[in-house]
Amino acid sequence: MQVAPSILSADFGNLARDVQEICDAGCDLVHVDIMDGHFVPNLTIGPVVVSAIAKAATKPLDIHLMVENNTFFVELFAPLKPQYISFHIEEEKHPHRLIQKIRSLGIKPCIVLNPNTIPEELEYILEDLDMVLLMSVNPGFGGQTFIESVLPKAKKLNEMRKRLNPECLIQVDGGVSDKNIHALKEAGVDVVVAGSYVFKHEDRAKAIKSLQI
Ligand code: DX5
Ligand code: ZN
Repeated sequence: MQVAPSILSADFGNLARDVQEICDAGCDLVHVDIMDGHFVPNLTIGPVVVSAIAKAATKPLDIHLMVENNTFFVELFAPLKPQYISFHIEEEKHPHRLIQKIRSLGIKPCIVLNPNTIPEELEYILEDLDMVLLMSVNPGFGGQTFIESVLPKAKKLNEMRKRLNPECLIQVDGGVSDKNIHALKEAGVDVVVAGSYVFKHEDRAKAIKSLQI
């Protein structure tokens, strides 16, 4: 299981220190949540701060867009060379076109599904993706309760990808901890995002290791 700590729960007064700490602790990716105050009722950071994160990080960035104008934000963050850019299918009229654009910029494309969006939405697009992100909370805030229905959904997606694109990774974001990590693994999940569990843990390296099962 790969682990991508979400810096949303980091100490923003000591951001570079916290980013270095999770990278030194052996995380796999650094998850960066971009919220625009429109698609979700919260506002986070822009390219100035993300470029400071990129400078401090020794692991690849995983950018999760929660925004209305996906193309604008893809262009804004592409120069920072993240490994992944994820966008919500609920907010994109032309997902196929955007996937091609992200790939043409040398970045791996990922589509995000809100808790109520069915995986069958991806039937004709899964073969073009490097990763699918299943939200296990409603996007917008850290520290929320894990929505259990993501488990059967991940199982269904796991069956779909075996048929359509075995290389495509399954990522889950929201309320992940040592309490649900085994069920996530069993459901076929490859990558978890964890914000509050990692950053509020007294030993962050231990928290990361407890998810790398
Ligand atoms: C929620 C964000 C998550 C969030 C996860 O909209 O996408 O990445 O930071 O935080 P936890 O792990 O605390 O639920
Ligand atoms: Zn996220």
